[in-house]
Amino acid sequence: MHSLLRRKDINRITEHEEGRRLVPTLSWPHLVALGIGAIVGTGIYTLIGVGAEKAGPAVLLSFLIAGVVCACAALAYAELSTMMPAAGSAYTYSYAALGEGLAWIIGWSLILEYSLVVSTVAVGWSGYFAGFLQWMQHQTGWAVALPHALAAGPHAGGIINLPAVVIVFVVAGALMAGTRESATINAFLVVFKLIALAIFVAVAMPAFNSDNLHPFMPYGFPKAMGADGVERGVMAAAAIIFFAFYGFDAISTAAEETKNPGRDLSIGIIGSMIGCTLIYMLVAFAAVGAMNFGVFGKSAEPLALIMRELGHGTVALLIGIVAIIALPTVLLAFFYGQSRIFFVMSRDGLLPRGLSKVNARTGTPVAITAFTAVLVAALAGVARLDEIAALANAGTLAAFIAVGACLLVLRKREPNRPRSFRTPMAWLVGPLAILGCLYLFWSLPQKTQLWFLTWNTIGVVVYFVYARSHSMLARND
Ligand code: ALA
Repeated sequence: MHSLLRRKDINRITEHEEGRRLVPTLSWPHLVALGIGAIVGTGIYTLIGVGAEKAGPAVLLSFLIAGVVCACAALAYAELSTMMPAAGSAYTYSYAALGEGLAWIIGWSLILEYSLVVSTVAVGWSGYFAGFLQWMQHQTGWAVALPHALAAGPHAGGIINLPAVVIVFVVAGALMAGTRESATINAFLVVFKLIALAIFVAVAMPAFNSDNLHPFMPYGFPKAMGADGVERGVMAAAAIIFFAFYGFDAISTAAEETKNPGRDLSIGIIGSMIGCTLIYMLVAFAAVGAMNFGVFGKSAEPLALIMRELGHGTVALLIGIVAIIALPTVLLAFFYGQSRIFFVMSRDGLLPRGLSKVNARTGTPVAITAFTAVLVAALAGVARLDEIAALANAGTLAAFIAVGACLLVLRKREPNRPRSFRTPMAWLVGPLAILGCLYLFWSLPQKTQLWFLTWNTIGVVVYFVYARSHSMLARND
C-alpha cells in the first residue's frame, strides 16, 4: 500500500521547470481574455436549454450556485499553480499533496473530463451548424441541409452526428499541424462571443414577460426523480450548468508567465469567474423571461431559437455564426489539455512512455492526439449532449475536490512555502469548494455516477496491473 501514498517532492516539481522558466509577459487583461476564451462555450450557448428544462426559471439559481462553487475551486487552483508552476494541474498537485493513488484517480478523471468536453462541445457546435445550414437552404433554395440521419445520433432518431465528428477531426488536425491558440485570435473571438451574448440580452430583454417566470421553481430545489424517470430540480440543473464555468485551468496554467502573479492571477481568475457568472445570469434571465422554458429547453440551438421565435431572424443568424466560429477555440483548449495530461502521466511512468513522444517539428504528441480524436469523435457521433456533459462534469468535480483538499493539506503541511498568490480565507474557501463539488456530484444523474464509478474502477485495475510498477517513483522505493 506504500505505493498509493508515495508523493512527489514539490521542490523537484518546481526544479524540473526551473531550467525552462517562461518569460513573464502576461498581465490581468490577458488572463481574463484567456479565461473567458476557454470558459464561454457550449455551456451557455446550448446547455442553458437543458438546465431550463430541469429547473424551470429557477435555472438562474443553478447558474449562481455553480458559479460560486467554481469560483472557490478556481481560487484554490490559483494558489497551487503559483506554488507548483508545472504542467498537469490537478493531477500534479495531487501527486505532491495526496500521494500517487489519489493522483492516479484524478489523472484518470481528468482524461474523462477533457475527452468528454471535446465531444460535448462538438455536439453543441453541430446544433448551431445544422441550424445555419437550414437557414442557408431556406434562403437560397440549395439543398445544403443535412438529412436528419446524418445530423443526429441514434438517440434522436438519426444514425450519426456527422458535423460533430468532422469538427473533432478538423481541430485534431490543426493540433497535429502544430497550431497553438493564438492570443490575438483568441482575444477577437472572446469579444465576438461576448458581443453575441450582449446582443441576445439586449434583444430578448424587451420581450420580458413576468408570466414566464411563474412558477419559478416548478421542480423544487434538490435533485428529484420525475414520473418520466428524468431527474430534475435546481441542483440537478446546477450539476449540468457547472459545465459552463470550467476551463479556467487555462489561467492557472499561465501562472508562470504572469508578471505579478499575486495581483494578476486574483484579478484574472476572480474577474473572469465574476464576469462569466454575471453574463450567464443575464443571458439566463433574458432567456427565461422572454419565453416559456418549455419552448427552448429541448432545442439544439436554444439562443438562436429564442431569437427566431421573437421575430429576429438576423440576430439568430448572427448568434449561430459566432457559435460556429468561436466554439472551436474551446475544443482546441481542451484537446490540447488532454494531450498534456497524457504527456505528464506518461512522463511519470504511470502510462506507457511512448504516449509522451512528441513530434519533433510540431511539438505535438501526434499518435495520442490521433487516438484520442478517434475515440472522442466516435462518442460525439452517437452520444446525447446532456449525458456526455454530465460525465465530463463528474470528472471535473473529482478534480476540483482534489484541488480543494490539496490546498488545505499543503497549508497545514507546508505553511511557510512561498505562495505568490494566497487564497483569501482558505479555511472557508477550501471546504466550500469540496462540499459544493460533492453536492453537485450527488446532484448528477444516477446513471452518470455509475458510469463515473465504472470508469474509475477500470482506472484502479490499470493502476494495479500497470501503473504502480512502472511509476518513476517506484524506482526510488
Ligand atoms: N465551459 C466550457 C463550455 O461551456 C467547457 O463550453
